[in-house]
Amino acid sequence: MLSAEEIHEIEAEAQHYPTREAVLIDALRIVQSHRGWVSDDALRDLAEFLHMTEADLDGVASFYNLIYRKPVGRHVIHLCDSISCWIEGYAGVRRALAARLGVDFGETTKDGRFTFLPIVCLGCCDRAPAMLVDGELHVHLTPDNIAGALEKYA
Ligand code: FES
Repeated sequence: MLSAEEIHEIEAEAQHYPTREAVLIDALRIVQSHRGWVSDDALRDLAEFLHMTEADLDGVASFYNLIYRKPVGRHVIHLCDSISCWIEGYAGVRRALAARLGVDFGETTKDGRFTFLPIVCLGCCDRAPAMLVDGELHVHLTPDNIAGALEKYA
């Protein structure tokens, strides 16, 4: 069941859109901000609230990299794996991140601190390689500077 707070926030966002369906990405984000991820139960309740099928809503939720359909760690790292980052040293950064975290893409560290995921081009190719941590952009990554970039995420 959606909470009163979630419903209030979704209704407030819905004012900015012409149809109820148009608010679905924001609605997914709102639910995720309250729960950390979007479970099957949350998806079912949200679909009902938006008058959509679960399958349609799941299709959208699964398409967007920033909507999580499985539990994630306290912080989420999205490492860009598109072409400019590949050219500028993505492979070394990925290896260094995986070694430092002890996990690979799709996994969460044992202490629940980080989930490590790939993402498509972040739109800052001139500063590649790049990653997001909780939506915050980090650029000009190297195997040597990633530890510093991660430090503040406790
Ligand atoms: S390819 Fe990585 S930011 Fe564009």
